[in-house]
Amino acid sequence: MNVAEIIFSPTGGTEKVADIIGKHWSENPVKIDLSDGSADFGKCEITEQDMVVIAMPSFGGRAPAAAIERLEKIHGNGANCVRKMQGRSTD
Ligand SMILES: Cc1cc2nc3c(=O)[nH]c(=O)nc-3n(C[C@H](O)[C@H](O)[C@H](O)COP(=O)(O)O)c2cc1C
Repeated sequence: MNVAEIIFSPTGGTEKVADIIGKHWSENPVKIDLSDGSADFGKCEITEQDMVVIAMPSFGGRAPAAAIERLEKIHGNGANCVRKMQGRSTD
């Protein structure tokens, strides 16, 4: 099983939380940074055997639109997932 952290963390707080969770399962989680606007997230392939931590902040009670658009391009292939929404959300 590989562990992947899919993060969006402009100022690093959410990334720190994702690292704590990801390193609980793996010494070297693979990091996928949704704040990288030049990356081709359609090429990211995750398998059913992988564990994925998805972490992003809440702005005005909403997940950042750019993070969601980029996340939707990643092929999850039925992997297990942990979601961490930084802060409180009204969603
Ligand atoms: C404009 C703005 C709106 C925010 N709205 C919320 C919110 O609705 N709920 C919340 O819990 N935190 C809110 N926050 C706090 C951010 O989610 C918090 O700063 C977050 O930790 C930043 O993540 P990062 O350090 O990974 O970039 C807001 C911050 C900003 C700047």
